[in-house]
Amino acid sequence: MKVLVYGTGGRDHSLADKYGDSQHVENVHFVPGNAGVSYTLKGKRKLIECIDIRDFSEVAKFCLENKVDLVDVGSENPLEEGLVDILNKRGIRTIGPKSEYVRLESDREFTDNILREIGVPKPEYRVFEDPEKAKEYVRNIGYQVFVKANGLAAGKGAIGCDDVMQAESAIDRIMVEKIFGRSGDKVVIEERKYGTEISFFVYLDGEHALPLKMFVQDHKRAFDPDDEESIRQFGGNLNTGGTGCYVPHKLVTPWLVNRIIREIVNPTVNAIYNRGDLGLGWDYKGVLYFGLNLDPYNNLEVFEINVRHGDPEWEVLCRKLSTDLFEIGMAVWEGKLDQINPVWNNQYYVDVVAMEGRSKASKGWNKGYPGRYGKGHEITGLDKIERGIAIYFSGVREDSEKGLVTDGGRGLHIIAGDRTLEGAKEKVYRNIGYLSFLDHNNSNKNCMRYRNTIGAEERESS
Ligand code: GLY
Repeated sequence: MKVLVYGTGGRDHSLADKYGDSQHVENVHFVPGNAGVSYTLKGKRKLIECIDIRDFSEVAKFCLENKVDLVDVGSENPLEEGLVDILNKRGIRTIGPKSEYVRLESDREFTDNILREIGVPKPEYRVFEDPEKAKEYVRNIGYQVFVKANGLAAGKGAIGCDDVMQAESAIDRIMVEKIFGRSGDKVVIEERKYGTEISFFVYLDGEHALPLKMFVQDHKRAFDPDDEESIRQFGGNLNTGGTGCYVPHKLVTPWLVNRIIREIVNPTVNAIYNRGDLGLGWDYKGVLYFGLNLDPYNNLEVFEINVRHGDPEWEVLCRKLSTDLFEIGMAVWEGKLDQINPVWNNQYYVDVVAMEGRSKASKGWNKGYPGRYGKGHEITGLDKIERGIAIYFSGVREDSEKGLVTDGGRGLHIIAGDRTLEGAKEKVYRNIGYLSFLDHNNSNKNCMRYRNTIGAEERESS
């Protein structure tokens, strides 16, 4: 069987890798792919082949000419731009929702209103199109909030605010400065909740739901809690989309999994399939991602729904999944998810993201991700990474002279597994220590940075 994974980032690379592990799959086309793939062992075995096609009609043509059996679309942008619709029209099997259904992620107001209507718990929220009215609201409500861009923002569109001044500034940044473009035409002001964040995933086949009963702790904050200097400089509430994660989450128990399915997943999936009166009633085929908060009183609430796997959550989840991903994918397409019973191995996995740190700019300094960061830094040490450690690449490119260089704030993911969480942490941090991003403007000093507390319990606010 031949699989095509459409995407460029770490989640997409790990999808391609997981399909490559399938007993049914002889070839994985990773389109447009990522320059880092050829630096991994599997890339060198040519199991995963990167093909730089970006035009969706050309992708369809490629699938037909090469008899691709299944296409998995990893991220929200190509889904929103209609890749699945185009492929389906040509009779190509896909995993991922149609463009219309991406609204669950691209329009928070729409989804929040549905959740409220069907009684799925979520924090208090109000939606604004006028920044002045939004500011007046945050001045008067008396509790802390998240200010969220209503549209797509690569998982980074939510700004946690400690006080009214921060909330007003977040409203200005999103609605006036347009840091997320037109996604900030509207904002959702949501009550800020404290507790433990849970990333929970469900596959849908248009008729059945397959909840993955293994959930992940994402670490969205840019800095370690004890990194006071950075937090003072940048602020503590920057949302990076994820600087690392681990699985199994410390709270995984059958009791909590059952509660999540009963209180959150079942009513939401039921509405997606059946509630035409709410603008739903969809034959949704793909993944749903529930971003949840469990507060200290054991209340579960939804703070976001996405139409794809989490990044970096999928990178660890797919290492732990023993079930053949191609079998899950075909069941999604054929409406047979009721016949799949996922099996998980007994390892812990930890993903640490190597990010652009402080580097020298042509004038002054780049503070580093998630602030302004430099690019084009040569990545060294990949040849020292130990066997059994997975690397998935995100913001990198091939340079004709230097080889693999950074090209984004989050460069790559290092993932280690072990029978214990402590063992997985020890391996992942030992291996990331072999890597450097060479700052060519600063005597080739290492400008890579990463968090040191991935895998520690993290009390986030959502
Ligand atoms: N890790 C957060 C996200 O994928 O949106």
